[in-house]
Amino acid sequence: MKQLGEEIFTWFKESRQNNPVYYDKDYALWFGATGTWHVFRNEDVRYVFSNHQIFSSEYMPKVQDNYLDKAMSSNDPPFHRKLRLLVSQAFTPKAMMDLQPWIEEYVDQLLDQVITDSGKMEFVRDIAVPIPMQVIARMLGVPNKDHAMFKDWSFKIVKQPTNEAEAKEFIEAQQAMGEYFREVIKERTEKPENDIISQLIQVELDGQKLTEDELLGFCVVLLLAGNETTTNWLSSTILTLAENPDIQERLAKNPDDISLLLEEVLRLRSPAQYQTRKAKQDVVLGGQTIKKGDLVAAWQASANRDESVFPNADQVDLDRKNMDHVAFGHGIHFCLGAPLARVEASVTIKKLLERIKNIRLQSEDIELNQSTVTYSIKELPIRFDRV
Ligand code: HEM
Repeated sequence: MKQLGEEIFTWFKESRQNNPVYYDKDYALWFGATGTWHVFRNEDVRYVFSNHQIFSSEYMPKVQDNYLDKAMSSNDPPFHRKLRLLVSQAFTPKAMMDLQPWIEEYVDQLLDQVITDSGKMEFVRDIAVPIPMQVIARMLGVPNKDHAMFKDWSFKIVKQPTNEAEAKEFIEAQQAMGEYFREVIKERTEKPENDIISQLIQVELDGQKLTEDELLGFCVVLLLAGNETTTNWLSSTILTLAENPDIQERLAKNPDDISLLLEEVLRLRSPAQYQTRKAKQDVVLGGQTIKKGDLVAAWQASANRDESVFPNADQVDLDRKNMDHVAFGHGIHFCLGAPLARVEASVTIKKLLERIKNIRLQSEDIELNQSTVTYSIKELPIRFDRV
C-alpha cells in the first residue's frame, strides 16, 4: 500500500542520496518567506541544530504584532537562555507529570463519549484535536468556550501559506491571539489563579521579570508547539496501528511496548517536519557554501529516515536498537514540552487500546493537510471493535 506522504518521503530519500544540501529559491517557508537551503542528512541536520552560534533561530521577519518573534523558539542566547530559564521555573517536568491524573480523568471522560456501539469514529476530530487542546488550555487557564477559536488560530499559523491572503491570515491570527492573551495577563496580574500565566507573571531571574511581550510570545508558542504537533502525533499513531494489525496484537499483549510504538511514529511521521534557521556567517555544509543571512530548512523528518543511522528506515520496527530520533529537536531549543507530550500520548493510546481493538480505516482515502512544516492528517475515519 502507498504510504501517506509518499511523495515527500521519496523527495527526502533522493535528496539525501543526490543533493543533501541545496538552495531552492522558490520554496515558501511556513511563516511566509520564500527561498531556503534544504538540509536532509541526519548528520547535517544535527549539525545545524547543535551550532546555534552559526545557525540562528532569529529568522522571523521583524514586523509588528508577530509575537512568535519574541518567543524563546525564535531567539538566540543570551535572550533565549534568559527566557528558557525563566519559563522553566514554571514549566518543570514535575509540573507536567503532576498533570497526569487530570489528563487520565479527562481522557476517560472523552472516551466514554466517543467510543460507541457504532464502532466508528473520526479520530482527528473526536480525540486527536480535543486532548492537546484541553491540556494546553488548562495550563494556560483558557475557558472551554474559547477552544474552537484557538484551534482555528493555531491552524492558520502553521498552515503553509500559498497566497498573500493566507500569509496575511498568519499575522492576523497572531494579532488576535495576542489581544486575547493581553487581556488574560491583565486579569491574572490583578487576580492570580492556579495556571501557568499567573506563575509566569511572578517568575524572576537576577531581579528581571518577563515583559508582557515575552509572555505573549510564550503563550502563542505554547499553543502552537503544544497543540498541532501532539494532535498530529496521536493521529499518526492510530494510522500506523490501522496499517499494522500485528502491532495491535503485540500491544494488546504487551501494553508496555506502546512507548516503543510512539517513538517509532515520531521518527517515521515526525509531527514537526523541519525547523528554520538563518546563517549568521558563511558556512560550508555538505559541500555547499551557505551565505550569511540565508535561510535554512533543516528537515528532521528526513534525518529520522536516514538509512545510515536507522537501518530499514522506512519500516516500523518496535525492536530497533537506535531510536534516537530528532523529532523533538536537538541542542538548546530541544522541545520544552516533550515530557508533557509523552504523558498525553501514552495515556491516550494506552486507555484507548484498553477499550478498543481491531482498528481499521473506513476508507483508504486519507489525506494530509496543506502544510509541509507539519505532518498533519486531515481526517481519520476508523472502525473498531470493543475489547
Ligand atoms: C509531539 C509533540 C511535539 C513535537 C514533535 C514537538 C517538537 C518540537 C521541536 C522540534 C522543537 C525545537 C524547535 C527548534 O529547534 O527550533 C520544539 C520546541 C519547543 N516545544 Fe515542542 N513539540 C511537541 C510538543 C510540545 C508541547 C506539548 C509543548 C508545550 C506544552 C511544547 C513546547 C515547546 C517549546 C516551548 C519549545 C521551544 C523551546 C526552545 O526554543 O528552547 N512542545 N518542539
